[in-house]
Amino acid sequence: MKGVILAGGLATRLYPLTNATNKHLLPIYDKPMIWYPLQTMVKAGIDEVMVVVSGPYAGHFIRILKNGKEFGLKNLSYAYQENPKGGIADALILAEDFANNQPITVMLGDNTTDANISNAVNSFDDGAVVFLKEVPDPQRFGVPRFDKQDKSKIVEILEKPSNPPSNYAVTGLYIYDNKVFDYIKQCKPSDRGELEITDVNNFYIKNNKLRWSELDGYWLDAGTFDTLLAANVYWAKKKNPEVFTKLINKVTRH
Ligand code: DAU
Repeated sequence: MKGVILAGGLATRLYPLTNATNKHLLPIYDKPMIWYPLQTMVKAGIDEVMVVVSGPYAGHFIRILKNGKEFGLKNLSYAYQENPKGGIADALILAEDFANNQPITVMLGDNTTDANISNAVNSFDDGAVVFLKEVPDPQRFGVPRFDKQDKSKIVEILEKPSNPPSNYAVTGLYIYDNKVFDYIKQCKPSDRGELEITDVNNFYIKNNKLRWSELDGYWLDAGTFDTLLAANVYWAKKKNPEVFTKLINKVTRH
C-alpha cells in the first residue's frame, strides 16, 4: 500500500518556533518530527510515500528527506498545498493521482507513535479504518460516539467537542479506500474554514464502511508546546534510557 503524510498547515499554535521553519521539521529528541510518521509507514511495509507540504518553508523538507532512499523508500513524492489553512482533507485530495485508485494509509505529520500498524495495513480490504486511543483530554481531538449496544460501531465522530461523548481520540492515522477522494469533494468548509477529515470519516460512517482499531502503543500529537515537550521526553527515554535518567536526576537536583 502507498502512504501519505500530511505536513501542511501553518502551526500557529507553535509560534514563534514556527516563524523560522515548518512544524514538522522541529526536533523530537534526535530527529525532525516528520521522521516519526515516516518510520511508522516504513515499519508497516510502505515504501512509496507522498508528503504534502505548504507554507513558506516547504523547501526545507527536501533538505531533510531528500529522495527518501535513506529511509528505505522506493519512491518519495511531494505535493504543495496552496492554502496552508485549507484543512486536512484539502491536503489529502492532492494525493488523488498518487493513490491511483488504490487504498492509502494516511498519517498526520505531527503524530508520533511506536505502534505497529502492519496488520491493519496488510488486512485492509475496503471502506476506512480509524485508529483510536484513550486520552485524558478528548476535547482536543476528533471524538467517536459509540453505538450504545455495540462498542465496535462508531455512530458519529465529533471534531473537538466541548462535551466529548467518549474518552477516545481519533488519532491522525487512517486507512482509506479510493472513495475517500469522492467524499472529500462533497465536504464543505467547517466553521473554522477548513475541509475537515472528521467530515470525511462521517461519510464512511453513513455508508456503514468505517471500522476502528485501538492503537496499540504510545501515541501523541506533538502540535502544542506541552505535547512537543512530552514527545521529546518520551522518545529520549525510549531511545537512550541511561543517559535520560542521568540527565533527569541532574536537572531535578537544581
Ligand atoms: O492529531 C489528531 C487530530 O488531528 C484528530 O483527532 C482531529 O480529528 C484532526 O482534525 C486533527 O486535529 P488538529 O487540530 O490536531 O489538526 P491540525 O490543524 O493541528 O493539523 C494536523 C496536521 O495535519 C498538521 O500537522 C499538518 C496537517 N495539515 C493540517 C492543516 C490544517 C495539513 O497538511 N494541511 C492543513 O491545511
